[in-house]
Amino acid sequence: MTARAIRGAAITFVADPFLVDPAEALVHIDDALILIEDGRIVSVGAFAAAEVPAGVPVEHYPDALLASGFIDTHVHYSQLEMVGAFGARLLEWLERYTFPAELRFADKAHADRVAALFLRELLRNGTTTACVHCTVHPQSVDAFFEESERFNTRMIAGKVLMDRNAPAGLTDTPERGYAESKALIERWHGRGRQLYCITPRFAPTSTPAQLEAAGRLWREHPTAYVQTHLSEDAAEVAWVRELFPEADNYLDVYHRAGLTGRRAIFAHGIHLDEDEFCLCHRTGSALSHCPTSNLFLGSGLFRAFEAKRADRPVFTGLGTDVGGGTSLSQLQTLNEAYKVAALNATAGRGEKLRPAQAFYLATRGGAEALALEDTIGSLAPGCEADIVVLDLKASPLVAFRLQAAPTIEDKLFALMTLADERTVRATYVAGEKAYDRDAAEPFRHA
Ligand code: GUN
Ligand code: ZN
Repeated sequence: MTARAIRGAAITFVADPFLVDPAEALVHIDDALILIEDGRIVSVGAFAAAEVPAGVPVEHYPDALLASGFIDTHVHYSQLEMVGAFGARLLEWLERYTFPAELRFADKAHADRVAALFLRELLRNGTTTACVHCTVHPQSVDAFFEESERFNTRMIAGKVLMDRNAPAGLTDTPERGYAESKALIERWHGRGRQLYCITPRFAPTSTPAQLEAAGRLWREHPTAYVQTHLSEDAAEVAWVRELFPEADNYLDVYHRAGLTGRRAIFAHGIHLDEDEFCLCHRTGSALSHCPTSNLFLGSGLFRAFEAKRADRPVFTGLGTDVGGGTSLSQLQTLNEAYKVAALNATAGRGEKLRPAQAFYLATRGGAEALALEDTIGSLAPGCEADIVVLDLKASPLVAFRLQAAPTIEDKLFALMTLADERTVRATYVAGEKAYDRDAAEPFRHA
């Protein structure tokens, strides 16, 4: 058995701050001790009251805040190379920038290089779990999971399914997509901490036959995940209406194919109507809020408070959506989520995003969206010890601003407004320090 302890100020959530008073949902311990054994948290409590077993090393972070590792519920590792591509809205952006970048993943060596960079960037940003689109190429999934396995990170990923409206080099067929995905499920799903996600890109690039095949695959492997895009851009929504005239709405396209339910994650959901929110709630389907992407591509404003309405709350996590999104930092993504909520509030829709609500989206809210709330997303006994250490003196400005932030809410809000990956002092993966900002060799495989 390997045991260690980490000491410092800590936050975690015991409830959903969209549904109860944020002050009740957020737990803040001024000086906490987190005891870890064999990669799992054994206890979390005040250091003054804790007993450290003899011989267990304690790592103390005096000017830091410990939180559960961030969870990115929607991101494309294959788009790292074209993040920040100028001037286009979604459909043109896919054609002009995204598909050419994804074509390069036919080469396994390229996929290996990008996966290595991507996993390191996640850890540099304190993200320990992500729900990841690879490309149509099965080897892009192997490259990703092989690298994730080296770090022992809990990742959810899958091969993109596309059988129309995409370049020939990026399409499969319903049969091939099914067979390749099935083989990848058998190879990767539940191997160590890796989890497979059935990944039809979005309705316009899959025929009804391919969506049906994806639904059949999920029924055969019900513990796997499903991810896709939903209702992101007005032109996309109109196109889906043309392509699927029989469907009641965009989400109904996926629902008819058997692709809604717990462990289905839909990115964006900007233009959803009431029936679609109700369908998400009823089926346990989750939404991924991707504010930097939605602002960058000019797609629209996600209504977080509508999604989380108390009479029919929808599981909602935070997504960076790189390369439509512009940062892998969950802190910077929260910065933009606040501004999206502020614009909505100005238009009479919803409220300002409270800091506890924001950090919940990046941690426990993401875990709930992924049906992993007993496994990750909280600093709680039994959870896997994925932990981010935020440096409260990361820069002169952060240190100065935090001096004038007396409460934990004030501190969290200053962090999500000003901080980025430089604030991440260390990232622990299943109890091992996988990233240490200040070490000569910052990354360490488990
Ligand atoms: N819709 C379909 N594919 C994509 C993609 O790669 N990124 C985003 N943001 N939206 C999509
Ligand atoms: Zn996306």
